[in-house]
Order: sequence, then structure tokens, then C-alpha cells
Amino acid sequence: MTRRKLAAGNWKMNGLKASLTELDALIAATGTGTAEVLICPPATLIAACADRARGSRVAIGGQDCHAAAGGAHTGDISAEMIADAGARHVIVGHSERRADHGETDAAVRAKTEAAWRAGLTAIVCVGETEAERDAGRALAVVGAQLDGSVPDGATAGRLVVAYEPVWAIGTGRTPAPGDIAEMHDHLRAGLVARFGAATGNGVRLLYGGSVKPGNAAEIFGISNVDGGLVGGASLKATDFLAIVAAAG
Ligand code: PGA
Repeated sequence: MTRRKLAAGNWKMNGLKASLTELDALIAATGTGTAEVLICPPATLIAACADRARGSRVAIGGQDCHAAAGGAHTGDISAEMIADAGARHVIVGHSERRADHGETDAAVRAKTEAAWRAGLTAIVCVGETEAERDAGRALAVVGAQLDGSVPDGATAGRLVVAYEPVWAIGTGRTPAPGDIAEMHDHLRAGLVARFGAATGNGVRLLYGGSVKPGNAAEIFGISNVDGGLVGGASLKATDFLAIVAAAG
């Protein structure tokens, strides 16, 4: 089973219209390569980014969606709206959403179903806290998040899973390569057990948390790591381009 690597950038709550020049620089320099490239800008920029990226190697995604297709939900954005703006992917269940907005596995599962309903690929995020890792519970916690956050009916085309240890996000710290391999192998086994070999082996597993130009190649070479979900280092085209190059 060959899985195409994916280099995904998550701009989080960063980016004004002036930031579109970074996207332009990225589009101009990505050229050809085997890896898929994705940028998830803030919702205000999705349509503008999608317009600029059309026909290029760079795809555009959202950072979150509501579970409903529409209705009285002030301030929220549906998966259908994200797709309509030109996105092809949406991140769901990022640890910042789980922490800041109290999103449960059940809520993330409903958002994933919404993404699929709208024809988007869902990037479902899971990851343990430092206390959970120190207590030896990382595999159990993340395995349970996977089970609870991913709906039935997954396919390799519409599901990507991102393992993002909470303590590694934005901190400059990363797990030991052996710990990343252990977790990704565990997630792979969980997907195969639930969805069968073809789907389970086809779903891409991203690592996220302080991926930088200097460590991307090593991380992307680890067992069952199919690319990265990148925060801070996706904001500057030069940094992200180096990560894209490491992905292939
Ligand atoms: P970081 O964020 O690369 O800035 O650590 C990763 C993420 O939250 O997706």
C-alpha cells in the first residue's frame, strides 16, 4: 500500500489579506513533487486562497466546521460553506478546539460526518496531554479518541488522521522517534481492525507538533508517518517549502 505523503499547514488564527503573498510565494515555488500540499487558512481567507491556488499543487482547507449544514448558529460555519468557498479538506478536533471550546469525541465525530456530507476530506486530530503520557496512558487515550472521533464509513479518500501530542504543539518539543512510531503503528492497527486492511492501510496518518524544516525529513521517515500537520512553520512560505520538500 503506497500512501501519498501530505504536507498540511494550519495557519490557525493568523492571516490577513496581506498574508496572501505568502500563499502566492508557496504556489510559485512548490513546482512538481509527489506529496500533496494543503494550506488551511482562517475562514476569512478560504475563498481568496482557493481562487489563487486553483490549478496549482496547493489545496485549501478549513480549520473547523459545525456539524449542521445550516441554521441558527451565530458565528459558526458549516462544512457546506467551506466546500462552497473552494476548500477540499477540513481539520476537525484540533486540540485547541477541544480545549478552548470543550469539543468532545462525539462532537468531533459529528463534525467529521458533516465534512463527508459536504464532500470534504476530514483531518481528524487526536493527541495526549503531557500528564497522560507521563502516566503511561498515551496509547490508550489516543486510541479511545480515534474510536470516538471517527465515524463508521471511513474511506482512505475522505479520512486523514493527525496525531498531535498536545505538549508538542507550539513548544519546540517533539516525541522521540520511537514514541511517534509506536503511536502511529498503534493508530494504524486500530484503523485496520475497525475498517479492514484496504481502508485501514490507506488512511494517511500525519504527525503534528513542532514540525520544522530541521526535523521534517526525520519525522516523515518514521514508520506509518504519512506527512505532517504544521502550525507555526506553515506561516512563512520559505519554512513550509522546506517541509514540503522533505515530504517529497
Ligand atoms: P505547531 O502546531 O507546528 O505550531 O506546533 C501544530 C498544530 O497545532 O497543528
